[in-house]
Amino acid sequence: MPSRRHFIQRSAALFGLAAAAPWLARDAFALTPEQLLQRRIPNSDEFLPVIGLGTSRTFDVRLDDASLEPLDEVMRTFINGGGTLIDTAPSYGNAEAVSGELLKRTSTRDKAFLASKVSASGRERGLAQVEASLRALHTERFDLLQVHNLQDTRTQLGLLRELKEQGKVRYIGITHYREAAHDDLLEVLAKESLDFVQFNYSVAERNAEKRLLPYCADRGIATLINRPFQRGQLLHRVEDKPLPDWAIEVDATSWAQLLLKFILAHPAVTVVLPATSKARYMADNLKAGHGRLPDAALRERIARAFS
Ligand SMILES: NC(=O)c1ccc[n+]([C@@H]2O[C@H](COP(=O)([O-])OP(=O)(O)OC[C@H]3O[C@@H](n4cnc5c(N)ncnc54)[C@H](OP(=O)(O)O)[C@@H]3O)[C@@H](O)[C@H]2O)c1
Repeated sequence: MPSRRHFIQRSAALFGLAAAAPWLARDAFALTPEQLLQRRIPNSDEFLPVIGLGTSRTFDVRLDDASLEPLDEVMRTFINGGGTLIDTAPSYGNAEAVSGELLKRTSTRDKAFLASKVSASGRERGLAQVEASLRALHTERFDLLQVHNLQDTRTQLGLLRELKEQGKVRYIGITHYREAAHDDLLEVLAKESLDFVQFNYSVAERNAEKRLLPYCADRGIATLINRPFQRGQLLHRVEDKPLPDWAIEVDATSWAQLLLKFILAHPAVTVVLPATSKARYMADNLKAGHGRLPDAALRERIARAFS
């Protein structure tokens, strides 16, 4: 069977990225196939497991035992399955406080790569929000802090840089969730030196393939992919359809895994962020980070199955 390193070299070449992004071919797979696939944060020596955990809506619950119990199971499944990156935001209701409480209960803050966001206008409001997020998450620093949906980008990036210098933030980035904003993301990336960019990409929203993903590969910017299931809508499209026989060719045992593997097969993707409130879905999603990934022909087959 071809090795993972062989796969990434071939797929980077297919996407025309190998020459522009030698780090992809060199270091993208450092672990054995038994472990959850990891990819390197460009311009660093740090690797991230490719399956992350989104928290929008799914983690916005009350902070009582009954509400937290199923999410405690989601968190344990995630961390025990090798996941680290948790993506949350102050605008996700209770999601930050719930994430912080679960990390405390499971004693796993040191295993997690904690990403949150700032969505405020003006430096003072931004700083107050960041301080409230640190308290809610029971942490002294963020692994990643992102300007949410490009709100007051210039001011907030200035703040994030200050926090990075103070050691309160390790990496900084920007996010959006709509294809119409991809050009705006590119414009900011061209002007600012950023570690991460988060945006939407799925079988149904492929605009990022045109410029954003190649740009990130070329410049060495880590990418986080949101809305992999379009908030679950993509999975509703196939709920009455049996999984095709060819799913076995990429070691997929569910439609969700096919959707995630479609995304992960793009070599410029660093981490994909499915959200769920159910431990069984979490376990399912983690499986997408194991086994083979689709080649170009199989990716098109996956996309057609959802069209
Ligand atoms: N601007 C931004 O920065 C931005 C915008 C959008 C999203 N995001 C990030 O990206 C994350 C993901 O995006 P999203 O929340 O829009 O949703 P998504 O991950 O595309 O879809 C989530 C939905 O899929 C369902 N699901 C998850 N795994 C499944 C599985 N294996 N089988 C069947 N159904 C499954 C979940 O159902 P259950 O609820 O039943 O578990 C949930 O309703 C967010 O949580 C957030 O962290 C960021």
